Amino acid sequence: MATATSSNQLATYTAVPLVGLVSKDVVPFPLFLRTADNTWVLYHPAAAPLDESHLGRLQAEGTVQLYVRDGDRGMYFARVESSLDRVLLERNMPLERRADVLHGVALAMAEDLLAAAPDRGGLQRATRVMLATSGLLVRDAQGFQAIRRVLASSKGLAAHSLTVSFLTMGLARIVLGGDASTLMQAGLAGLLHDVGKVGYEELDHDPEHGQRGAELLRGLALPPMVLDAVRSHHERWDGTGYPQGLMGAQIPDIARVVGLVDTFDKVYSGQQPRVGVFDALRILAQAYRGCFDEKLALGLVKLFR
Ligand SMILES: [Fe+2]
Ligand SMILES: [Fe+2]
Repeated sequence: MATATSSNQLATYTAVPLVGLVSKDVVPFPLFLRTADNTWVLYHPAAAPLDESHLGRLQAEGTVQLYVRDGDRGMYFARVESSLDRVLLERNMPLERRADVLHGVALAMAEDLLAAAPDRGGLQRATRVMLATSGLLVRDAQGFQAIRRVLASSKGLAAHSLTVSFLTMGLARIVLGGDASTLMQAGLAGLLHDVGKVGYEELDHDPEHGQRGAELLRGLALPPMVLDAVRSHHERWDGTGYPQGLMGAQIPDIARVVGLVDTFDKVYSGQQPRVGVFDALRILAQAYRGCFDEKLALGLVKLFR
């Protein structure tokens, strides 16, 4: 994120768009302006009322962003989650900056969602974030390139699940058709694919997590595509996967997509020393020969080109 250390202060700051800052609750953190000589001045103290007229005056002067202290980012993401759609539509903000907000909001959501067995409230929250993400991907040809930076930090169940979610949406757009509803479901499928590991994170090998996850999600009114991905993302094209040893087209489309990007993320995030995306794709192709649908593997290369 656009973070910099001011010349006269030790705190670091993050640029945030004006959209989404105003709501019925007071802003619980201070907002800053950056001056021409790269110092930050307090624009709005914490807990003071903020309304659209304040932001209107800023916009009239050509200001499109304010700054929050890095330590307040969590509070900022919580505040803008309900207006994520509007933030992502804010074309005055560079796409990269909007993608940063999306990443912050989505990661906080994923961490909450996967802290315990998901409930309806957590899934509604996840659905809203995935809908906002799919809107960005459908509207903006560069949307995927802007959010693929999540790859850099895919450690832990929530971060891995979010990476798989965004990659599943990106690849689904190429191979399953790109309407927003399909992408939203693909995003949920990726986000929830390892939900069966919640509470079992210490197990290195856990072949039951797909079935367990599908059981956890039964009765929560999720699209069938999501349950397919959770249950069958470790099935392999050549029949060597689990739990059922399905082959080729027997494996549901979405489970094939999630299975491929899940393995890609493991290869990419697990290499020491770190490798680039295209080296990871090469390692994947060599180490997992025959495991994945060739058409999807080519789609994955295309996604990163
Ligand atoms: Fe898995
Ligand atoms: Fe996984």
